[in-house]
Amino acid sequence: MDRILSGETSAEEQMLEKSLRPQWFSQYIGQNKVKHELEIYIKAAKHREEALDHVLLYGPPGLGKTTMATVIANEMGVKLRTASGPSIDKPGDLVALLNELEPGDVLFIDEIHRLPRIAEELLYSAMEDFFVDIMIGQGPTAHPVHFPLPPFTLIGATTRAGMLSAPLRDRFGIISHMEYYQEEELTEIVLRSAEIFNTPILTEGAIELAKRSRGTPRIANRLLKRVRDFAQVQADGTINKELADQALTLLQVDHAGLDYIDQKLLRSMIELYQGGPVGLSTIAVNIGEETETVEDMYEPYLIQRGFLKRTARGRVVTAFAYEHFGYPYQGE
Ligand SMILES: Nc1ncnc2c1ncn2[C@@H]1O[C@H](COP(=O)(O)OP(=O)(O)O)[C@@H](O)[C@H]1O
Ligand SMILES: [Mg+2]
Repeated sequence: MDRILSGETSAEEQMLEKSLRPQWFSQYIGQNKVKHELEIYIKAAKHREEALDHVLLYGPPGLGKTTMATVIANEMGVKLRTASGPSIDKPGDLVALLNELEPGDVLFIDEIHRLPRIAEELLYSAMEDFFVDIMIGQGPTAHPVHFPLPPFTLIGATTRAGMLSAPLRDRFGIISHMEYYQEEELTEIVLRSAEIFNTPILTEGAIELAKRSRGTPRIANRLLKRVRDFAQVQADGTINKELADQALTLLQVDHAGLDYIDQKLLRSMIELYQGGPVGLSTIAVNIGEETETVEDMYEPYLIQRGFLKRTARGRVVTAFAYEHFGYPYQGE
């Protein structure tokens, strides 16, 4: 099964991702609201020669949170240090990271909702007053040490702001919600990526890819890469609408841009549970995914596009979804 949505990336894909990743606001397409706000805050912070306030970026995977952190550091003209929540499992790990910061630097913590409690608590004083107090040594020789820190900017990324504890969330001065991208924005992203790949593409081909990328740049880039292979093998190398359509159909991405797992999720709810209500964990078991993956990756898009509804009693498939798959609707 082709895991278009999967978080796993090969070494080659990582290289590619790197070359595709926008470095400046001028290259960052879409997310206009977030971008414009940040541009103002960055200008003001630079004017005052201060570190930028702490930033929390939240939204589904692949929408450009890590990219935005890179852009912010570049635009501020400071270094970026990157860590991921689950990897900071001892207070010492966090202190080591903080210790390397120079005034104004950005510390980016991805998946910040998975930061262990003990590290999270250390962050409170680090964020608010730029110091940490930790215990050094064990037993009778243990003693507290006070570490002053330079002013720095913490950028946290999470798939859902609701998964953060209130004390941590409250310490972010800037909270930005990343939205799914519009078709026109994704078209622009696909055209830009195709240029970086040196792949000939017609605008109509880019539009077709944009329409079927679940509003997500990461998926748009992955699909482009695969469609490019089809274009090289089966045609003259140029991606046009027909070729994009053929390739996407082979990749089991349907005309609404639903991938194999989206389709399986909705169909199983219709076929096994008359469209619901179905509990989240049942859905997850049916499609063989973690509940967290269903909640972060699949559901938000299906809800946003009107295929699925969240009710007090569980998830319900909409009439629109029945129509999409050609099933007769028997709901309310
Ligand atoms: N606004 C954008 N313009 C162009 N490409 C983007 C944009 N946002 C994301 N991308 C591309 O999508 C990929 C995934 O973005 P990333 O920042 O890793 O998402 P997230 O951290 O939210 O999961 C990046 O490699 C980048 O090439
Ligand atoms: Mg990321």
